[in-house]
Amino acid sequence: MKALILSGGKGTRLRPLTYTGAKQLVPVANKPILWYGIESIVAAGITDIGIIISPETGEEIQQLTGNGDRFGAKITYILQDQPLGLAHAVKIAQPFLEDSPFIMYLGDNLIQDNLSPFLTKFKQQHLDALILLRTVSNPTAFGVAKVDEKGRVLQLLEKPKHPPSNLALVGVYFFSNSIHKAIASIQPSARGELEITDAIQELIDSQKTVESVQLQGWWLDTGKKDDLLEANRIILDTNLQISVGGEIDEKSQIIGRVNVNKGSKIINSTVRGPVIIGENCHIENSFIGPYTSVGDGVTLIDADIEHSVLLKDAKILEIHQRIVDSLIGRRAKVEIAPQRPKALRFMVGDDSQIELV
Ligand code: DAU
Repeated sequence: MKALILSGGKGTRLRPLTYTGAKQLVPVANKPILWYGIESIVAAGITDIGIIISPETGEEIQQLTGNGDRFGAKITYILQDQPLGLAHAVKIAQPFLEDSPFIMYLGDNLIQDNLSPFLTKFKQQHLDALILLRTVSNPTAFGVAKVDEKGRVLQLLEKPKHPPSNLALVGVYFFSNSIHKAIASIQPSARGELEITDAIQELIDSQKTVESVQLQGWWLDTGKKDDLLEANRIILDTNLQISVGGEIDEKSQIIGRVNVNKGSKIINSTVRGPVIIGENCHIENSFIGPYTSVGDGVTLIDADIEHSVLLKDAKILEIHQRIVDSLIGRRAKVEIAPQRPKALRFMVGDDSQIELV
């Protein structure tokens, strides 16, 4: 059994962050989203992993993630020149996959469930495909499945205007090698992509066995800011190890589940968990409230923030209003003059959003 993780694509929904970085590397609780997928695959006993990368962000993914040693896996990177669809990614990965069955995992998805029970079902029942489903309130944004009462899949549609159910396809799939023949016989969709949903429909139409399981735990497609903040909230709630390294002065208070990493200094500040603070941060005269992840090298001076994600080397200076529900990119600086500002001065990248609420 092998695994194929899809980490190419364009990442338009997390712009502007994804103009300069891969969306699969945006951190949740200070760990790239992609790494959760790798860890979950390795935990299910699969160590031969291919990762699809794009020309724009592939190098960054390779540099950070490496050859797999840190996960106890062997990673092979596969370049997809253009984001021509999920099934196209499988097609170009065929030399890596050979005739092996495989898990396909979308690199921007996070799921709580352990993969092992699904893998066991897939193997024991000799399925051609096993898909995971979850009920959602907005099925038009996803692939949607119609299933019979036993979970056998009858029909799949990609982002349909009139969904036949509210069961969305989660970005984790199990395939036998019969998927390659199915992919060879489909055409690009109206949006110009080779859709994996069409390939699975082709399996169904040629009487192959395609079954589904409904997820019990949470599933997050981290493509948008609020989804990412929600993923961050859940991971901090469920996975955070308490550990306080760094230097904390006697005027500071650390309350609840907090993880502070080496080289960070906390001066005259309050941190109320769950919160993770990376390495070499400088926190002074500040309050950091629940569900906040502070990346390495961040500076917070006279700042008050909660339910937010701050990426590496961001700076927040002299902002006395509480900052909430925010995602602040790498090296971004947010500052307000100490006196009541008479004017606001911005240098804001394309697609940024500033809300003075
Ligand atoms: O998240 C679940 C949904 O994922 C499913 O419900 C849909 O059926 C499925 O098509 C997919 O929809 P998205 O619109 O969310 O897919 P997205 O374009 O965001 O791509 C998913 C991942 O695959 C992402 O990490 C980028 C990567 N990718 C995407 C394309 C189109 C590639 O590596 N190559 C590609 O050509």
